[in-house]
Amino acid sequence: VNVILLGPPGAGKGTQAKRLVDERGMVQLSTGDMLREAKTSGSEMGRKAAEVMDRGELVTDEIVIGLIREKLSTPSAGGFIFDGFPRTLPQADALADLLAQMGQGLDAVIEMQVDDAALVARITGRYTCGNCGAVYHDQTKPTATPGVCDACGSTDLRRRADDTEAALSKRLMEYYKKTSPLIGYYYAKGQLSSVDGLADMETVSAEVAKVLDSGK
Ligand code: AP5
Ligand code: ZN
Repeated sequence: VNVILLGPPGAGKGTQAKRLVDERGMVQLSTGDMLREAKTSGSEMGRKAAEVMDRGELVTDEIVIGLIREKLSTPSAGGFIFDGFPRTLPQADALADLLAQMGQGLDAVIEMQVDDAALVARITGRYTCGNCGAVYHDQTKPTATPGVCDACGSTDLRRRADDTEAALSKRLMEYYKKTSPLIGYYYAKGQLSSVDGLADMETVSAEVAKVLDSGK
């Protein structure tokens, strides 16, 4: 099964993607995570992308399509979860071409619906484990022991450089201008399903599972 998780910053794409990896052996392809890895590696591309990301703008289609192309060359029996990709119409077209070349297609596109007010609270409360990538929240999902990752025991808990209110308002604008047209694009193809992203994490997971198991 190949699925796209579509939604604004803080909608819960990464949270749900990680659950699908654990529960279904799928492979998560998060272009945001790939770009942050490139930043940490200190490569020229990573440094350039980091500047753009920290402002809350989108990096070029060329860079992210290249990253996805590379990852798709390793097959996944459980399928791929596209998290934060595609984000523009050219990226959506490129993904369709890449999957077609592999003799595959998309099985579902899940739009996670949330409102802006909730996003600010989600983003400003978020922290992640620098070692294993687990995602936490000050109010809705704190670690059991303060300062220690539940999943791996690491004390390297971090906040993202673009999780400020200023960068978030830019990220939201980019989403509405460049990414939200994909909702109509996939609706027209009969591939779109929507879930209420404001529900608690368990409920959202159950809704996502329902879509995947219905084969849409
Ligand atoms: P990216 O890393 O993709 O960030 P994003 O889309 O802004 O999404 P987030 O990771 O912020 O949110 P999420 O939906 O995954 O939410 P999460 O599960 O963490 O992109 C970052 C940047 O990289 C972009 O701005 C751009 O510059 C660049 N980039 C990436 N991809 C690109 C592309 N394709 N093209 C061009 N540029 C690209 O949840 C958020 C918080 O809420 C967490 O604390 C979580 O614990 C909590 N939470 C989650 N679900 C619930 C729930 N149901 N109830 C209560 N709390 C919840
Ligand atoms: Zn961890």
